Amino acid sequence: MTAEPGTRVLKADPASIATAATALRQGGLVAFPTETVYGLGADACHGEAIARLYAAKGRPAFNPLIAHVADVAAARRLAVFDAAAEKLAAAFWPGPLTLVLPKRPDCPVAALALAGLDSIAIRVPSHKTARALLAAFGGPVVAPSANRSGHVSPTTPAHVLADLRGRIDLILDDGPCAVGVESTIVGLLGEPSLLRPGGLPREEIERVLGQALVMPSPGETDDAPLAPGMLASHYAPTARVRLDATTPRQGEALLAFGAAPPFDGTTLNLSPRGDLIEAAANLFSHLRALDAAGATTIAVMPVPHDGLGDAINDRLARAAAPKP
Ligand code: TXA
Ligand code: MG
Repeated sequence: MTAEPGTRVLKADPASIATAATALRQGGLVAFPTETVYGLGADACHGEAIARLYAAKGRPAFNPLIAHVADVAAARRLAVFDAAAEKLAAAFWPGPLTLVLPKRPDCPVAALALAGLDSIAIRVPSHKTARALLAAFGGPVVAPSANRSGHVSPTTPAHVLADLRGRIDLILDDGPCAVGVESTIVGLLGEPSLLRPGGLPREEIERVLGQALVMPSPGETDDAPLAPGMLASHYAPTARVRLDATTPRQGEALLAFGAAPPFDGTTLNLSPRGDLIEAAANLFSHLRALDAAGATTIAVMPVPHDGLGDAINDRLARAAAPKP
């Protein structure tokens, strides 16, 4: 489904929510209200829909997205819950809290949505329209804030339209958001840590956990207005990565783009037809597959820099950076 020519704005009601769920099923992009800010939703398991979502936002890089689910049971199908995760989920879901957890091996969410990481950010929103949409769709929905990259998060349908008109399929209009700032993000991969302050006060979380949250040192920031370090880690293959390889060498594995040169080593193609949306959808899963096949070096053919090419090249450059 394309975003052209227009973006429909529909008052949230059972009929429009059913329409939005159908649009998601078809790989469309749907902005919807949550109690924090409006999110730009896509089917979390649909790699190409997610590639289009990054393109619509104009994200300079593939930051991992939050998977929105209807309830804790749905969240447990995506991630491994330890005692701390169970406690926080019981206390604060549904609500403005996002948990970063180890993803389950059988987690169906697309690698691109997780930026290739082994962790997953999950939240159960409390907004009635968000909940109705998740129930109607019946699966995880990834949703970054529904703004162009670098802009502040939208709290009304008008904000969403101003940024994304013509770039997305549908906006479910249910008035302004009550909380108005993004969800608080707590990382539970090691010591519980505050990855992003947000709509749920830190003190409340610490009271339930019975311990202080670690404040990670600032790493890389994304486009969020509450700026401290969001994400210092990136997917890194074990193999060496050689960029802009036009001629693969003996013993390398080849990650091709477009027409591949003749080569008898292991080869995967990001997009034989040279399509950057398709290439983005395949990026992390292909890197992982070549890594898992035991390649010591992955030779990557040049990928153009236009459109999603910038984000693809950004992630490839990180994958190629010398390992610490
Ligand atoms: O309130 C919210 O959280 C809104 C509504 C729509 O739910 N969503 C939102 O999404 O703010 P976004 O994409 O604008 O911000 C998500 C943040 C990013 O900073 C991203 O780096 C971080 O979550 N994140 C996602 N997955 C992560 C992971 N596995 N590890 C660390 N950080 C992660
Ligand atoms: Mg954002």
